[in-house]
Amino acid sequence: MAVLTRKVKGAEDILPRDSYKWQFVEDIMRKEAECHGYKEIRTPVFEHTVLFNRSVGETTDVVQKEMYTFDTKGGESITLRPEGTAGAARAYLEHALYNDGLPVKVYYMLTCYRYEKAQAGRQREFHQFGMEAYGSADARADAEMICAASSIFERLGLKEKIKLEINSIGCPTCRKKYSDALKTYFGEHKESLCDTCLSRLDRNPMRILDCKSEICKGIAQNAPTVLDYICEDCAAHFEQVKGYLDCAGIEYTVNPTIVRGLDYYTRTVFEFVTDCIGAQGTVCGGGRYDGLIEELGGQPTPSLGFAMGLERLLMVLRANGTELPGEPVCDIYIAALGDAANKKAFTLIQELRSASFRADGDLVGRGLRAQMKYANKIGAKYSVVIGDDDLSANKAMLKNMESGEQTEMPLDGGFLEKFISLYVENEQKRMIAES
Ligand code: HAM
Repeated sequence: MAVLTRKVKGAEDILPRDSYKWQFVEDIMRKEAECHGYKEIRTPVFEHTVLFNRSVGETTDVVQKEMYTFDTKGGESITLRPEGTAGAARAYLEHALYNDGLPVKVYYMLTCYRYEKAQAGRQREFHQFGMEAYGSADARADAEMICAASSIFERLGLKEKIKLEINSIGCPTCRKKYSDALKTYFGEHKESLCDTCLSRLDRNPMRILDCKSEICKGIAQNAPTVLDYICEDCAAHFEQVKGYLDCAGIEYTVNPTIVRGLDYYTRTVFEFVTDCIGAQGTVCGGGRYDGLIEELGGQPTPSLGFAMGLERLLMVLRANGTELPGEPVCDIYIAALGDAANKKAFTLIQELRSASFRADGDLVGRGLRAQMKYANKIGAKYSVVIGDDDLSANKAMLKNMESGEQTEMPLDGGFLEKFISLYVENEQKRMIAES
């Protein structure tokens, strides 16, 4: 296919026939975030490269292999965001959001970019919904964050399909002991590790645990697990988080192998996973990042968050056979022929739209029959045909496209009022019949 009509690999179009599904899911996410006191933040699609190097981490796959980085004409190194946490944290500091009173709670809906091997559920351009909270070290904040993500899945009817796994990866103090244990373990398998992991062995051996190479994955299976190394404070915090999750009736499994693929995490980490969409089964990931704000130059600020991938979530909905509320359809189509009739139809359509009806009429010069065919095709609920005779009689017939029922409508005043009352009456009848 010619390059001009072919999208770039790893990016997807969201077509008009599907976009209502995205809007439905996004609406649930926004409402959930707002119920929890979160407000939307919108940050730029690109940031200074150093922001991601510093926060996501120099030895992560994301920074080492997956970033879309380029130099601007002015010579600055810029990167398309691979995730939302770093940009939100930068904005929190740059705009001193901490002055608004802690905790500061933000959510976002973003496109992200990672140069990954494209496959089902793994794209180079993808969409994340995320929530971040700054300024609470309390285990209730961890549980609240997990509850918010969980509630989104529940509202979408996916409670049985998406399971929560949690872990604690401790703080810099306990991480040191764990790193030493990993160095010893992986040191014994040096000759089999991939080149990237060899370079990680000294700098950040925990990253070897989420290497995508099959050989490294095999070796990592028997590596020491972090829960055996966390300090008393971190262990107590983890117990509290579990206690609050129990209070909220949230089911979880402790999975000591979760370490997450980004460097900023401390203490609680969690993932929501499914087995119904193939290899890319992590729908949502998050955790605490108590050191990040300080790392970026701010005051020590315990923080946490999560992000979920919209593409993966929609795949789960599809695999689950979930029926999302139908595509919006046209409420009323007004067909007309001739100059005077077109003007009348145009005026009525504008009036109907001002009253928030989805109203439509001809824009391409079709004949009356073809206009009605089009009205059928777009699923119009009602239609009106205005011809010369109707104009001189100042009335036209409104047709209920489903039942075929016809109602006489005035054309020179009172059309909108009569349509509203008919519409409401029929909607009520429909709702009663459906219930
Ligand atoms: P992450 O695990 O890298 O975490 O990504 C979160 C979610 O984004 C994944 O669970 C997945 O659903 C989706 N995702 C990631 N990469 C791709 C891809 N290539 N194609 C499609 N979907 C993808 C983060 O990004 C952290 N910033 C989450 C976070 C927020 N932690 C604390 N606050």
